[in-house]
Amino acid sequence: MRIATHGLTKIYDKKYQALDQLTFNVDLNGIFSVIGRNGAGKTTLIRILSTELLPTSGTAFVNNLDVVKDATALRNEIAVVPQEARPLPWLTPLQTVRSYLMWRGYSYRESKERSKDALRSLGLENLEKVKNRKLSGGQKRKLMVATVIASEAPIIFLDEPTTGLDYVSRKEMWEILSRLKKDRLIILTTHYLEEAEILGDRIMILDKGKLADIGSIDELRSKIKFPYVLRIMSDNVDINEDGVEIKRVSNRQTLVYGTASKIYNLVPYLVTNKIKFTVEQASLGNIFEQYVGEEDGGDKNEKEDW
Ligand SMILES: Nc1ncnc2c1ncn2[C@@H]1O[C@H](COP(=O)(O)OP(=O)(O)O)[C@@H](O)[C@H]1O
Ligand SMILES: [Mg+2]
Repeated sequence: MRIATHGLTKIYDKKYQALDQLTFNVDLNGIFSVIGRNGAGKTTLIRILSTELLPTSGTAFVNNLDVVKDATALRNEIAVVPQEARPLPWLTPLQTVRSYLMWRGYSYRESKERSKDALRSLGLENLEKVKNRKLSGGQKRKLMVATVIASEAPIIFLDEPTTGLDYVSRKEMWEILSRLKKDRLIILTTHYLEEAEILGDRIMILDKGKLADIGSIDELRSKIKFPYVLRIMSDNVDINEDGVEIKRVSNRQTLVYGTASKIYNLVPYLVTNKIKFTVEQASLGNIFEQYVGEEDGGDKNEKEDW
């Protein structure tokens, strides 16, 4: 499965720039995770790649089909769960999946079997006939995923499928997605960096509509200045080392970012003084901060109304 864009740009209403000359290429079976702050352009990218929205300029191909010129053909290859999508409250899960399949052209009989299979694979088989309005938030999101999985489209877009869910439901969703990614390309946007780190076989960092970088977590980590993190659990440390970045998280924890050799230079001091510490590779959260900065970037197009 392949996605390729060249100079992809979207400007809404001639003034709100959401994507700025985005050029990238992914060739993958698995999970392609798109991360970025609110307003970075994630949803705009999903909407263009899934043929819902026209780009202002540039090109995009999904499995070698042009999202503009071959939109009709492409729609058979893809399935989408938009951001904020929720199942209709007065239907049941079985009716929800089934009506989606029939709308996609499956027969009455086949749609029933496929729907039941999909609901079972997401652990919703006991809720087939309950009204959607009675489902929990996590069950509603799973139902939306069941719908697109049932279609057997090889390319699936999920725009922030876990936002707002509690930790347990998110973890269940992670388990489901890593099981379902086999033989598919799942394009997953999220602003939970931990989620992208756990699930993303390839990760793209978007920053204000531009490509910050794309690669596996190890590739991204290999390009940053401080790939290691020393976590010191003590209220009284005195670190004097050049070429590292020191950040006091609280009065009980201090983080030191640096290269492997710089960090290991500090270890003897900590051991001698019996100070508790851990050494970790930079997380995607650390990597993200080093790419796009820590400041609360927010949405550059959002004007305050004074
Ligand atoms: N329909 C729209 N009209 C005008 N501006 C929009 C519209 N949709 C999104 N934007 C703007 O485009 C930028 C990217 O938004 P979006 O793609 O939704 O980002 P994300 O999904 O990463 O939060 C933001 O600045 C947003 O305010
Ligand atoms: Mg969005």
